Order: sequence, then structure tokens, then C-alpha cells
Amino acid sequence: MTDIQTLLSQYAKEFNQRLESCFRLNNAPEQRALEAMRYSLMNGGKRLRPFLLHQTASLFDVSYETALPVAVSLEMLHTYSLIHDDLPAMDNDDLRRGKPTCHKAYDEATAILAGDGLLTYAFEVLNKAHITDAKKVELTLMLAQAAGAKEGMIAGQVLDLYTDSHELHANAEEIIKHTEELKTGCLLRYPCEAGAVLGNASEDEKKLLIKFSRNLGIAFQITDDILDIKGDEKVVGKTLKKDKAQHKLNFVSIYGVDKAYEIASGLIEEAESMIATFGQKADNLKNLSRYFLTRNC
Ligand code: IPE
Ligand code: IPE
Ligand code: MG
Ligand code: MG
Ligand code: MG
Repeated sequence: MTDIQTLLSQYAKEFNQRLESCFRLNNAPEQRALEAMRYSLMNGGKRLRPFLLHQTASLFDVSYETALPVAVSLEMLHTYSLIHDDLPAMDNDDLRRGKPTCHKAYDEATAILAGDGLLTYAFEVLNKAHITDAKKVELTLMLAQAAGAKEGMIAGQVLDLYTDSHELHANAEEIIKHTEELKTGCLLRYPCEAGAVLGNASEDEKKLLIKFSRNLGIAFQITDDILDIKGDEKVVGKTLKKDKAQHKLNFVSIYGVDKAYEIASGLIEEAESMIATFGQKADNLKNLSRYFLTRNC
């Protein structure tokens, strides 16, 4: 394991304990959705977005505890997006984080409700954070926009589902970039921007972190798409080789694995230079962005 993987897994261990404490279950029948939420949330997951948020916040000396509810709420929202992404009406997947997907472990209606529940709970947790009201308002708005149907994750999911790789697209690269920035990039941009908001970063610092996260988002989705073709199912924890069968348009489908990887490498190299101004404090962020390229899950 590289140092950054060790750091990330230590981070995930502590984060998971705190996440678990958000769920106090009794066996009441109305808690079925809550159980399914807990199931999907606690089922592994690399915790990259919370880590990114904590690392960005630490550039500005924000404490772990202050940033924690913001990170927890983001992981809840991200997990909702995965539960819905796996539904039969969307990507129709049976495996997530190495375990049966939510609708397989429970049923479709419960999975829809668990997703809705996590999306709602995310905003509850965020608004219980011990930060100023002004920051709560700003972060709530940012998270809603990042997840939303206008220019957020849902808009990206729409493009992903309704753009067919078999049709000829003159501006395919533009469509793909836009899709990936929305469906994956928005929830990777948010932690970088939120860390900056928590840390009262200057406008220039914020702009740099947003630029950094845009490159990260596209590169991350490219490696996800490469793993779909070349990954080891046991390590990735998802059913692979599905994107082609589902006619997904992405960098790999138009350029092939090698060129797509080259594009991702270029984006990560550029991303690293964007945070150079933060010096050694940004070492973990730099190493994390390199890991985005070399990850096997
Ligand atoms: C999967 O995200 C969905 C994509 C945006 C490609 P992750 O690869 O971060 O999934 P988990 O949270 O580790 O399961
Ligand atoms: C999913 O992209 C992105 C979101 C959940 C928003 P994918 O459909 O490629 O993600 P995986 O491969 O199922 O994790
Ligand atoms: Mg999908
Ligand atoms: Mg999917
Ligand atoms: Mg994928």
C-alpha cells in the first residue's frame, strides 16, 4: 500500500465509527428505510469525498471535528446517488462496494426510500454542524446545487443515461466532459469548495481549489471507466464490463483505454500544479490526486 492509501484507510476507519453513530436503530417496522440507509452507507466505500473535504479544510487549519458533520453529510448524499444509480431503471447493478446493492439486499421501493432518506438526512446533519449560520446557508446552497438537476449531479446522470455511444456525436468529447463534470465532478468539487468556505479562504484560493477539483473530477471518472474494462471485480466491488453493454459514452468508449489514461494523467499533472501555492500543506492532496490515477478500486 502506498502512504496515501494507508492514510486513507486510517481516515476511513475513524470516519466510519463516527458515521455509524448517526444510526440508532430499534426494530420498529418503520425503520426499514433507515436500516437500508445504514446498510449502504456502512458497506465499505473509500470515503474519498470526506477525506478530500478534511484535507482541503486542513489547508486552512480547520479542525477535524468542525469539518466532520460537513463530511458526513456529503458521504450520505454520495451514497444516495449510488443507491439510485444502481436501481434497475438506471444502471441495474447487483453489486456495490462488494455487497448486494440496496435494492437486492432489500427491495426496489426500500432502496428508493433509502436514497431519499439519505439525501434528506444529509441536509439535517449539515445544518446541525457547529459552524456559523452564514456558513450553514452557504454550504446548504452549494450542496443542493452540486447534487441538483440544474447544473449538478442529477443533470449529469440524465446525460449519462440519455446519451447513446452508438449515435454519432460531432462534439463527443465536449458532451463527455460536460457529463463527467456534472455527474462525478460536482460531488468532488463540493468538498474542495466546502473546505475553503470552512477555512475562510480568499477568493483566489477558492478559485484554485475549484480548478483543481474540476480536473480531479474528470480524471476520477476516466479511471472509473477504465476500471470497468480492466479492473478486478473482487477488488473494485462492482459488476464490471457493463458500460459498453449499456452503450455509455465516455472517454474510454471514444478513445480507448490508453488515450483515456493519457488524458487523465494530463489532468492530474495540471491539478497538482494548481495547488502548488499551498506548499507542503497540500502534500496529501497531491498524493491523493495521484492515487486517483493509480487506484485499483
Ligand atoms: C463511485 O464513486 C461513483 C463514481 C462517481 C464513479 P467511488 O468510487 O468514490 O465509490 P465509493 O464511495 O468508494 O464506493
Ligand atoms: C455514477 O457513475 C456517478 C454517480 C453515482 C453520480 P457510474 O454509474 O459510472 O458509477 P459506478 O460505476 O456505478 O460506480
Ligand atoms: Mg451510472
Ligand atoms: Mg453505475
Ligand atoms: Mg462506472
